[in-house]
Amino acid sequence: MLAIMALEDHGLTPGNGPVLVTGAAGGVGSVATAILANLGYDVAGVTGRPETGDYLKSLGATQIVARDEINETVKRPLEAETWAGCVDAVGGDMLARVLGQMKYGASVSAVGLAGGAGLPATVIPFLLRGVNLLGIDSVMQPYDNRVRAWARIAKDLPMDKLDAMIQPATLSDLPQLGRDILKGQVKGRVVVDVNA
Ligand SMILES: NC(=O)c1ccc[n+]([C@@H]2O[C@H](COP(=O)([O-])OP(=O)(O)OC[C@H]3O[C@@H](n4cnc5c(N)ncnc54)[C@H](OP(=O)(O)O)[C@@H]3O)[C@@H](O)[C@H]2O)c1
Repeated sequence: MLAIMALEDHGLTPGNGPVLVTGAAGGVGSVATAILANLGYDVAGVTGRPETGDYLKSLGATQIVARDEINETVKRPLEAETWAGCVDAVGGDMLARVLGQMKYGASVSAVGLAGGAGLPATVIPFLLRGVNLLGIDSVMQPYDNRVRAWARIAKDLPMDKLDAMIQPATLSDLPQLGRDILKGQVKGRVVVDVNA
């Protein structure tokens, strides 16, 4: 929600064009996809798991982008202006590549580093296209912005979509889930019932 609010604060509206969500089948990506779609955005989800395509479409993604298509080292600092905004949960090569695909004046919310903490990018998208890279931190957010974000989640995240992205688990499932998470094989969010 914070990532989307930051994009909106920098001028994103549904009329601007498609919005890219990287790591789309993960926790951050699933929530971002569902909220953006509900707000009327055309959402393109990047995933390394083609089998999650139907799931992402059920959350509202209109376009599925294969991870391999976009997860390459930057070859050209600027490519075709494609995305009006981006919620990036991946970082690394993918974020560097996406910067060169942003439309003029568009913004990327950098949320995560599932693909790496490096950023092998050039400054050209900032200088020639006025692209903005917005840092998102959920831990130290000021109180007022937390209230604003929770109010927006209550309004803009459809509950049926939230249900679809939750996988229930018990404490005894955790060792296997840990392995699955590290292999990038968990979809959406795991909710552990500590009383089960
Ligand atoms: N800034 C903040 O306040 C904040 C808050 C929460 C989380 N985070 C960070 O955001 C990131 C995502 O969190 P999450 O909870 O959504 O994690 P997650 O559920 O594990 O999802 C990460 C997703 O990234 C994709 N991915 C994994 N490894 C990749 C790789 N090597 N290259 C490209 N894509 C890869 C996968 O999506 P596909 O299978 O669809 O490809 C995976 O599902 C993490 O780095 C986390 O630390 C930051």
